[in-house]
Amino acid sequence: MKAVDEFTIVSNRLPIVMHREDDGWHVESGSGGLVQAMSPILEKLGGRWIGWPGICAEDGNGWYPAIAQAGAGFRLEPVILTRAQVDGFYAGFSNSVIWPLFHGFADRCDFKPRFYQTYDEVNTRFAEAIAPEARSNDFLWVHDYHLIHVGQKLRTLGVDARLSFFLHIPFPSAENYTKLPWREEILEAMLAYDLVGLQTGRDRRNLVQCIERLMPELNIYEIGEMVVVEMPRGSVQIGVFPIGTDYGDFSRRAGSQAATERVAELRREIGPYQVLLGIDRLDYTKGLIERFLAFELALDRYAELLEQVVLFQLVIPSRENVPEYRALKRELDRLVGRINGRFSTPSWQPIRYLYNTVSPPDLCALYRLASAALVTPLRDGMNLVAKEYCACQVEERGVLVLSEFAGAAAQLGEGAVLVNPYDIDATAGAIYTAVTMADDERRRRMRALRRRIKGSDVFWWAKRFVDAALEPTLERQVGTRAGPFQGDSNGGLPAAQ
Ligand code: G6P
Repeated sequence: MKAVDEFTIVSNRLPIVMHREDDGWHVESGSGGLVQAMSPILEKLGGRWIGWPGICAEDGNGWYPAIAQAGAGFRLEPVILTRAQVDGFYAGFSNSVIWPLFHGFADRCDFKPRFYQTYDEVNTRFAEAIAPEARSNDFLWVHDYHLIHVGQKLRTLGVDARLSFFLHIPFPSAENYTKLPWREEILEAMLAYDLVGLQTGRDRRNLVQCIERLMPELNIYEIGEMVVVEMPRGSVQIGVFPIGTDYGDFSRRAGSQAATERVAELRREIGPYQVLLGIDRLDYTKGLIERFLAFELALDRYAELLEQVVLFQLVIPSRENVPEYRALKRELDRLVGRINGRFSTPSWQPIRYLYNTVSPPDLCALYRLASAALVTPLRDGMNLVAKEYCACQVEERGVLVLSEFAGAAAQLGEGAVLVNPYDIDATAGAIYTAVTMADDERRRRMRALRRRIKGSDVFWWAKRFVDAALEPTLERQVGTRAGPFQGDSNGGLPAAQ
């Protein structure tokens, strides 16, 4: 394997949360899968994490000492943006163009040319922050849809290190992708990396079909687990790397004495009802409206659910400066009010709706308590809530109701109750199936899910990606015969992707 001088992780957000108090700026370490996966690697091997710290140039620079002290064993290098840049790059092109388009919601896109210009400009800013210290033997790993152009910009600046990119969200069908006014530019930028990772086989098929359609002159073939695209400057590998969760940490926390006590407290607070749990960022891709409608239909249809089940829905505030998100919030508030108004009795309310965040201990306790998790996005890159829920189901009593359009369904289809979230009628039926499922079937399914999630946790994911980047298939398999791309590979993974 190639020796690495330094690891460089690049993501839109730095793995910290900053807030200003009377005595100045404070930094807390961020949570989330990427932080958990990358921090141990960076701590062990040394390196730097480059990203936006969530504040703007207009906030002054009193925050600098707080960030300088924050990196635990690795350096945090902030890229500071102006408010106008954040508006055009983050709220604009990232979250009003790529996010909806890549999730299959072309109608929600706002294809303003100035959004694209700012995206390109901010990606250049990131590349300029990375380039001066980048060496040939560095490992540079760029994350997610906000920063697709960074690799190409780095090449322009003369960086000759191996460049890798992982897309955490889905890659859309050619049908949808080709609606993008900058479709050639984005595709060319993706092909400036040496390794491109996607969550599922379906995402990779979509990407390859787009390349075939928009760049028919390119040669594409398959070697081992990789699809290889020959570019004039060398070949690009495209692999399938479904992201995992920190299974060990979640199951340890959920099984702890503190969690047992918290579960008992929550049980007293919520009442003696079966808890159906939903945890989602506020986002139209999460299928919240459809989920509430399906729950309402289940209450209408199955009288035995009345005063027996509670839908505990936690919605985490997100992207409040994007108009689509504010409108969704209003719609959800109205819908919850209507359903609760219709069905509540003096001692029972069918939906407990919290628009807030929860602490990690409370999260684990909720996961452990819930009889079922409703993970029903209309489209999702992976959805780690599905995996976290199972990791926390230490008593193996819960049922995972999972959308077939979540990336996780490619791995968890066997143990989960799969639903088409657009089919409100069938989702209502799936809720009933979950609530009434016999204990032995619950256990059998949950055991299978937990085995699967444990075996492909976030460390497995990071290692597979880093191995693929540092020891490319082409070098490993010199002499084996390459087959043409068949379009249906599952990337060498054990289950259909
Ligand atoms: C998705 C994206 C991440 C993003 C996260 C939260 O999971 O793939 O890159 O960080 O949503 O969204 P936010 O806009 O708050 O960063």
